[in-house]
Amino acid sequence: MKSRLPLRCWAEIDLAALERNLRLIRASLPPHMRYVAVVKADAYGHGLQQVAARLMHAGADLFAVANLAEAASLREIGPGWPILLLSPLLPEEDRYLVEYDLIATVSTSDEVRRFDAVGRAAGRPVTVHLKIDTGMGRAGIWHECAEKLCAEILASPNIKLGGAYTHFAKPDEDPAFTDEQRKRFLKALACCPKLDLSQLFVHADNSAGLDTLEAAGPFNAVRIGLLQFGIVPGRDGLLAHVKTEPTFSFKTRVGIVKKLPLGTGISYGSTHTLRRDSTVAVLTAGYGDGIPRSVSNRASVLVHGIRCPILGRVTMDQTVIDITDIPTMTKVASGDECVIIGRQNGAEITISEFSHAADTIPWETLCSVTKRVPRLYKTVLGV
Ligand SMILES: Cc1ncc(COP(=O)(O)O)c(C=O)c1O
Repeated sequence: MKSRLPLRCWAEIDLAALERNLRLIRASLPPHMRYVAVVKADAYGHGLQQVAARLMHAGADLFAVANLAEAASLREIGPGWPILLLSPLLPEEDRYLVEYDLIATVSTSDEVRRFDAVGRAAGRPVTVHLKIDTGMGRAGIWHECAEKLCAEILASPNIKLGGAYTHFAKPDEDPAFTDEQRKRFLKALACCPKLDLSQLFVHADNSAGLDTLEAAGPFNAVRIGLLQFGIVPGRDGLLAHVKTEPTFSFKTRVGIVKKLPLGTGISYGSTHTLRRDSTVAVLTAGYGDGIPRSVSNRASVLVHGIRCPILGRVTMDQTVIDITDIPTMTKVASGDECVIIGRQNGAEITISEFSHAADTIPWETLCSVTKRVPRLYKTVLGV
């Protein structure tokens, strides 16, 4: 039998923490709120099927994905589970709505006609959620035009309206604008008097939206991505009441340790020059694994629980760090584990800190961890 090769760079996914997070988030919400688990982009790089299976067990009500391929993969493990497609479909994808029993997002009259035709041909209605653009400027019907689109949906015999939603543009930055978006959404819904909101999923809030969630009114579902992975979006203090735990750690190992003299340039372009005689470690991971080049000379990694700065440019497969300040009795050796994101010996590099160093956001950091990186799952059902 082939033995498993030693790991050079890997991600650890804590599914038990994921389950605890869902339950915590739920407990912080009014009891009637349903939980739409956003698992697009391979469940934010965690692995779609593994994450979705655990969230099904933990009691998610509905899954939201971006596209058909994700929906088909999810359908393999959850026959009958409701799946909402958040992104617009291409016309040649329409027929799969029925084949995979999916819920489509509707933003245009053209989509209403197309989905009605699909339902007619299949002999059963296609379920849709009406998306209203209240200021995101992306998918959705502009809120002032929603009344007409809503009437078209309700008049289509082969379409079943299952929900209505909007998406916030800056919930972590601008509560006043978020409030305005909520008002626009409610006003648009009020213009559709034939809607029975109690029969629909009515949702607006993503993770950051929870801070200003309105328990009153017709909202009865939330769409949670980042927070279920234990990452608090945006500025400090947000969502302080929901103490989730990180589910994702990103690790690599020391390849070699060596001493270099003061004045040596490190890595491509020699963007760092050693200011002292130094001990460096060459790690067995680079941007080919998802350590972005933008953290060159900016982020640190943990070795034996000590922060060690990245020196010079991150390369495709190797990254150099400064371990000069690690006490000599803590001998660093080839094979030692290093933490890019996560905890080690009481120290922590959060995904938010790492993303800040990379001049990006945690969502993108997670999506950038490449296929080369095996995901290892902690599956203990210790909830
Ligand atoms: C339409 C929609 N809803 C919900 C989410 C989840 O957002 P978050 O990860 O901030 O919870 C996203 C994420 O991009 C989204 O595009």
